[in-house]
Amino acid sequence: MKEYSPFTPGVPVPIEFFTGRTPELTRIFDTVGKSVASQSLERIFVIGERGIGKSSLCRMALAVSEERHDVLGLHVYLGGVSSLEEMVRRIFERLLQKSRDKKWFEAVKSFLGNHIRQVGIFGFSLEFTASSNELKQSVSDFPYVLRNLLKNLEDEKKGLIIVLDDLNGLAGFPAFANWLKSFVDEVATSQEPLPLLLILSGLPERRRQLINNQPSLDRVFDLVHVKRFKEPEVKEFFEKAFSKVGVEVKKGAMELLCRFSGGHPVFMHEIGDAVFKTDEDNTIDKNDALQGVVRAAEAIGAKYIEPKVLATIRSEKYMRILSKIVKDPFEHRFSKKDISKRISGDESRVLNNFLQKMKNLGVIAQPLGTQRGEYEFTSELYALFFWLQAASPGRKS
Ligand SMILES: Nc1ncnc2c1ncn2[C@@H]1O[C@H](COP(=O)(O)OP(=O)(O)O)[C@@H](O)[C@H]1O
Ligand SMILES: [Mg+2]
Repeated sequence: MKEYSPFTPGVPVPIEFFTGRTPELTRIFDTVGKSVASQSLERIFVIGERGIGKSSLCRMALAVSEERHDVLGLHVYLGGVSSLEEMVRRIFERLLQKSRDKKWFEAVKSFLGNHIRQVGIFGFSLEFTASSNELKQSVSDFPYVLRNLLKNLEDEKKGLIIVLDDLNGLAGFPAFANWLKSFVDEVATSQEPLPLLLILSGLPERRRQLINNQPSLDRVFDLVHVKRFKEPEVKEFFEKAFSKVGVEVKKGAMELLCRFSGGHPVFMHEIGDAVFKTDEDNTIDKNDALQGVVRAAEAIGAKYIEPKVLATIRSEKYMRILSKIVKDPFEHRFSKKDISKRISGDESRVLNNFLQKMKNLGVIAQPLGTQRGEYEFTSELYALFFWLQAASPGRKS
């Protein structure tokens, strides 16, 4: 019987397969330590592109901090949230879910009072309910509410970490920026201690939006940048994941896996998964790796390259340009000058537009230390994907 795939494209990585990020984790642990030791509010902003591993980093940081520092960690996803009341409600709800089978549940119950409701046919799930007035109150008294929570948990927890993840909607709201600012100011000027690490996590443009709305937030958060993995980390990841399910990876195959994932965690999982499913004898050789990489390129194109752009790229002119750019699926650099020589007048009229679109999408970028007009695919997998598309224009992906 074949084992289940150890790869998890698209969801935060299970703790056992978490790879790298040691400096980032260390910074977060140190900050937790500081918050607990000096009973202070500390603030971190985790930024990075989509799919780079922000949520996974936060999740890992919470798990380890809870062990090391005796703190309570609440990881709250705010996708789709468009009001402060809903934000606070989700924080409480997370507190409830997190505590229900813990020994401190009684303390949380008495903190949340009669706002807990049993739902579901067998009353298995608990829900936090509060009127909008009560929520409004909690929004404005948030420092007080958190101190109260910590008081209730006095015997169990020395501090609190709250991660506000997926800030998409909220970051654009002046009300959120203003609330953050007054929360931070209020805690700072109050005499009462509050051992809390507040972590925001989102795209760099979310941080910019927030600062546009409230410029003084600029210096309030320490930045933790999440970046692409370096080759040794990618290798470590694949080794860990494959050995967990008793699969051996040959050297040449490993090189291909590392090369095509380009340090993108999402691609590492997609490629790993595709290669795992291709392999039949628990040994990944070069052939398995190549087949898997091609499968992954198709999956990634379908899942991550926005359908709209994909549709544009399928326009005949773009398609012809693309096929001239990706003449070789294993070559991921090109220059505008070279491409211009290869294309017709008709195509060159849309070339700039095309390049700009690809750039905005993060599919291509100007390599470091090169001149304008030089480009590379940010992952070789993109090049491969487009090569596949160009080779069979009619295909549906
Ligand atoms: N440190 C890591 N080790 C292994 N896989 C990771 C790591 N960080 C992220 N991943 C994987 O990458 C993908 C995207 O991660 P995620 O944390 O959701 O990114 P983000 O929150 O930045 O959008 C997920 O499939 C996740 O499992
Ligand atoms: Mg995330």
